[in-house]
Amino acid sequence: MMALAGIPLGLNFRFLDPSAHACAGPLGKLHRAEFSDLLAVQAMASEIDVATFDFENVPADSARSLASARTFHPCVNALEDCQDRLLEKRLLRSLAIPVAEFQPVSSRTGLLDAVEKIGLPAVLKIRRLGYDGKGQVLLNQHEDLEPAWQALGQSDLILEAFVPFTAECSLIAVRNEPGEVRFWPLTKNAHGNGVLLLSRPGVLGADLQAQAEDTVGKLLAHWDYVGVLAVEFFILQGRLLVNEMAPRVHNSGHWTLDASVTSQFENHLRAICGIPLGDTTMTDHALMFNWISEMPEMRHLLLEQGLHWHDYGKNPRPGRKLGHATLVARNESDLMRGAARIAQGLGGRWPELLARLDGRS
Ligand SMILES: Nc1ncnc2c1ncn2[C@@H]1O[C@H](COP(=O)(O)OP(=O)(O)O)[C@@H](O)[C@H]1O
Ligand SMILES: [Mg+2]
Repeated sequence: MMALAGIPLGLNFRFLDPSAHACAGPLGKLHRAEFSDLLAVQAMASEIDVATFDFENVPADSARSLASARTFHPCVNALEDCQDRLLEKRLLRSLAIPVAEFQPVSSRTGLLDAVEKIGLPAVLKIRRLGYDGKGQVLLNQHEDLEPAWQALGQSDLILEAFVPFTAECSLIAVRNEPGEVRFWPLTKNAHGNGVLLLSRPGVLGADLQAQAEDTVGKLLAHWDYVGVLAVEFFILQGRLLVNEMAPRVHNSGHWTLDASVTSQFENHLRAICGIPLGDTTMTDHALMFNWISEMPEMRHLLLEQGLHWHDYGKNPRPGRKLGHATLVARNESDLMRGAARIAQGLGGRWPELLARLDGRS
C-alpha cells in the first residue's frame, strides 16, 4: 500500500522480504532475503536513497546497518523502543504518559510476585514479537497462571493490569524533518480475540482528540521522529491510557486511503523523502472492515455503493489479515445503514462488533 501511494509521486521501490510471494513484489525490485541478512541489507542500501519499514519486527541490527549507509526513517531508537513492550511502557512512564500498571516477568515466582502487585484480572504478554493478540493470555484467576506460564514462559514477559475500557481508539500522526506535525482524526477500533476487525474514524470528541494529540506530540518530539507513528489507546472514564505504539503505518489508518485528503502511506513517504506533507482532513464518513483468514465474496459486497476493496493477494491462513474494505458515505446515517447491511450479510459477530462503534465515547 505504501508503494501504491508512492508510485504516483514518481518514487521507485526496492523491497527486502524473505518471501518470494511478498505482496509488494510486483511494484518494484524484490531483494529476497531474511530481515537479519546484513549482506542483503547492505546490497539493497547501495541501490537506494531512503529506507523505511512497515513492520516493526525488523531486527535492530539490520535497521542500524541501513541507517549507517542511507537516510533511514523513523529512527532506530523508536523502532527498538516499540519492539519491546517493557521498554515501551517504561518510556511512556518516563514521559508521564498514563499506562496500565505493569511488571516485568522472567520466572514462575516472578509471575506470582507480579500478580501479587498488580492483582487480577491481568494480561500476560511476551515482550517482543507479539501481534494480533498472539503471545498474550488473560489471567482471571490463580488457576490461569500455570497454563499461561507453560504457554509463554520460554520468552521474556510483561504482566499488565487488565483495563476495563469502554472503547479502544488509535491516533495516527505524521512528522517531517523540520518538525511539522499533522494528525488524522482519532479512530475508534473494535477487536475480536486481540485482532483488529473494525475501525471508524472521526466519531470521538474534541477532548479525547486533544488528549491523544498531546500524548503523541510528546512521543514524536522525544524521538525527533520522521514518518508516520500510530498509538493505540484504551478509553477509560473519559481518559486515555496508552496500550501500545507502532512506529509505522497502521491497520487502523487504512481508511485514510479512501476517506482522507492524504493517506497515511502517502504522508509517510512525503515525510521521509522531504516532500511537503499533505492535508490529513477526512473527506467522508468512513468505516473499515478487516478481512481475516479468508476473503469474503467481493462481487456481492461491492453491490454496496461506497465500498472500497483492498485485497492484499496473500495466501489464506487462519488468523492472517488478507485484506480490508472501507465504506465511505456523505453522512453518518448513510454510513451506518450501509455498514449494517454489510454486517448482516457477513453474519457471525459482525453486527455486535458494529454496534460497539455506534456511540460517541
Ligand atoms: N491490559 C489490557 N487490558 C484490556 N485489554 C487488553 C489489554 N492488553 C491487550 N488487550 C486487548 O487485546 C488487544 C491486543 O493487544 P495489544 O497489546 O494491542 O497487542 P497486539 O500487538 O497483539 O495488538 C488490545 O487491542 C485489547 O483489545
Ligand atoms: Mg495492538
